[in-house]
Amino acid sequence: MALLRGTWLMVLATATTAAPPPPLPPSAAAGADAGQIVLHAGGHIDSNLHAASPRRKLNGRFLHITDLHPDEYYKPHASTEEGFACHRGEGPAGAYGAETSDCDSPFSLVNATLDWISANLKDSVDFVVWTGDSARHDSDTYHIPRHNSEIIKTNRIIADKFVETFSDSKGLTIPVVPTLGNNDIYPHNVLMPGPNDILRTYTDIWRHFIPQEQRHSFEFGGWFYVEVIPDNLAVFSLNTLYFFDRNGGVDDCVAPSEPGYKHFEWLRVQLQFLRRRGMKAILMGHVPPARTEGKQLWEETCWQKYTLWLQRYRDVVVGSLYGHMNIDHFILQDTRDIDLTVIDPAAWKSSRSRESMDNDLSVKSRTDYLLELRDAWSELPDPVLYAEEVEIEQTKKNKKHKKKGKNKLGGPWAERYQLSLISPSIVPNYFPSIRIIEYNISGLEDSATWVDTLRVLGDHPKLRPYQEGNDQESILGDDFYVDKHKKKKKGKKGKKPKGPPLHVPDGPSKTAPPGPAYSPQPLTFTGFTQYYANLTYINNDITADGGGDLGELKWDSGKHSDKKPKFKKPRPREFTFEVEYSTSEDKVYKLKDLTVRSFVDLAHRIGQTSAKSEVDAEGSEYEDEDEDADMEEDQDKFEEDEGDDDFDDDSDDDGDGDEFDAAKKKKKKGKKKHKGGKKKKDHGKSNKTWLYFLKHAFVSTRTEDELIEEIY
Ligand SMILES: *[C@@H]1O[C@H](CO)[C@@H](O)[C@H](O)[C@H]1NC(C)=O
Ligand SMILES: *[C@@H]1O[C@H](CO)[C@@H](O)[C@H](O)[C@H]1NC(C)=O
Ligand SMILES: *[C@@H]1O[C@H](CO)[C@@H](O)[C@H](O)[C@H]1NC(C)=O
Ligand SMILES: *[C@@H]1O[C@H](CO)[C@@H](O)[C@H](O)[C@H]1NC(C)=O
Repeated sequence: MALLRGTWLMVLATATTAAPPPPLPPSAAAGADAGQIVLHAGGHIDSNLHAASPRRKLNGRFLHITDLHPDEYYKPHASTEEGFACHRGEGPAGAYGAETSDCDSPFSLVNATLDWISANLKDSVDFVVWTGDSARHDSDTYHIPRHNSEIIKTNRIIADKFVETFSDSKGLTIPVVPTLGNNDIYPHNVLMPGPNDILRTYTDIWRHFIPQEQRHSFEFGGWFYVEVIPDNLAVFSLNTLYFFDRNGGVDDCVAPSEPGYKHFEWLRVQLQFLRRRGMKAILMGHVPPARTEGKQLWEETCWQKYTLWLQRYRDVVVGSLYGHMNIDHFILQDTRDIDLTVIDPAAWKSSRSRESMDNDLSVKSRTDYLLELRDAWSELPDPVLYAEEVEIEQTKKNKKHKKKGKNKLGGPWAERYQLSLISPSIVPNYFPSIRIIEYNISGLEDSATWVDTLRVLGDHPKLRPYQEGNDQESILGDDFYVDKHKKKKKGKKGKKPKGPPLHVPDGPSKTAPPGPAYSPQPLTFTGFTQYYANLTYINNDITADGGGDLGELKWDSGKHSDKKPKFKKPRPREFTFEVEYSTSEDKVYKLKDLTVRSFVDLAHRIGQTSAKSEVDAEGSEYEDEDEDADMEEDQDKFEEDEGDDDFDDDSDDDGDGDEFDAAKKKKKKGKKKHKGGKKKKDHGKSNKTWLYFLKHAFVSTRTEDELIEEIY
């Protein structure tokens, strides 16, 4: 590290002759023009900046905010019905938004949210993860169709608002990391390979957020990262639109010409580099890697690569944060679903394709989705039982310690699984909601913060100590960013992809301890607090609550659609967020931290309410052993075939038998069938955890009866 720092400073010294940063367009908030660069006009670094303010310390908290969806056409007391979209007519649309409806957010809500954050959170968070969709939906296509200029305009307004909220007189005081949502582009969902006008435009809109030296690569791919704690922690903004099944502008993540392929190559190189520097990473994006029995949001090869990458970099990745779905929940990726034959052109085999999930979840599809999640969770091994098994094992001294990788969790840290946390939205499909995630800063209390180092030093193309013998850098050399600009046609599913054999990333070193996502340590997420704004109370329009309109309609006009506001002119109360729940105190969730294992345990408990768990409980032990045997056979074969390429990187890895579970295809012998009919009768055990999870999924907008009606 000392060496790196040395290099860094040397390069910095020569950087003073570089050109000044580009002038800021007039839309920049006043006083915020420093952004992430504070090189003065002549390129000199003002060393007085350090002295000017006391050093900022880490708080061990950061903000996750998502899906603001501001709508400049929103009209209070307009109708929430489909076709009106809170733009016209008369109805219950509140001053701060129409909670539980499909209407977008009035600017009053967006402003009030950021004002509240400014007054209450600004100084107690270390960075901001902002996962996209800062334009309205195209839900009023007949009267007011969306246009590119409007999307760009609202994004500019919101980006500037973030700058204003988190800045002092010299610029941002904490880093803000945005990412592209599927509604931030026109037409929605379709983002062609870069460079293109959209990415160039966002390079400008987000100039305060994207480190200077990464602007070039952002224009090519819409991805970047920020060292939110310099030399310790980076947040990676993934451009999930290149993984999104609905993006007709791209095909898959296997063909080297595809931006999704390049994205994973970029990510691999960066994570490798971080590992070498002893740093950790948070991954974030808009569209989550949701994938249930029947549906998925990401194209399958992209999901496969992602899951494989996370398995290989499980020592580096702290956690993964997403938005888009608006419901508060989490998903677990099972590394046993990794199938290298889907992503390795050399061994290619067509994959079963799932239905691409509805872009914006309707009542019906979100219900199906949550039920499918629960079904999958009902098959999870019980981590508590596993812990007991291990203990028994260890007390039997004569027995050699259990061969690693032979258990269903993938070892004591549940490394078989990966966790994605999905935060609910500002747009009030339920109640507007924000999340504060707490993470462990033990030992980092006095480390230099972003504002004291990166902001002051500025980021310069030459600054990255990237040349430090990084043999993989060449991948991202000139060829990598060549603009192919060829016309694309949506590839046919089931056609063999062309490309070089898969380069499986290196796994953790044999001696590496489990990563922060798995075992509690510095940077591990320790908990989160979910905040919500009770718009029913704040809007002050609706007197008695007579229950909602819960038809299986695509459009949700909200629970107040048939009600009349009590005042002619809105008389809202003061806008505020309250705590909905906090994982560290929650008596039902019982999450002592946010490690994967804690969530496997929670998911297991939620799954136990499923009819299925009882059916499957018997004999699952034996089934699993068979599976293990199968898998090992497959694995041997695979490794033989793949003889001496990248896979050998890990051949010295004998202690870690789980390593290549990844390569093993799980064979499900028709085990997964939807047991629709049984559900109604069978929530015999305790459906408490499941209903509690649902209550939070819909940000406490539903009563238990409504939940039961909606889900069963
Ligand atoms: C929101 O804030 C912006 C300034 O940041 C202001 O121009 C706009 O009028 C505000 N809108 C509402 C509805 O408060
Ligand atoms: C934070 O990490 C330190 C060092 O690993 C550990 O001792 C401590 O218990 C952790 N704190 C929490 C709240 O997990
Ligand atoms: C929100 O406010 C309404 C009206 O005051 C109240 O009936 C309801 O219980 C509140 N909901 C929550 C979750 O706070
Ligand atoms: C489970 O939910 C059903 C509603 O579908 C309810 O009637 C029942 O009492 C619940 N069972 C338990 C044990 O909580």
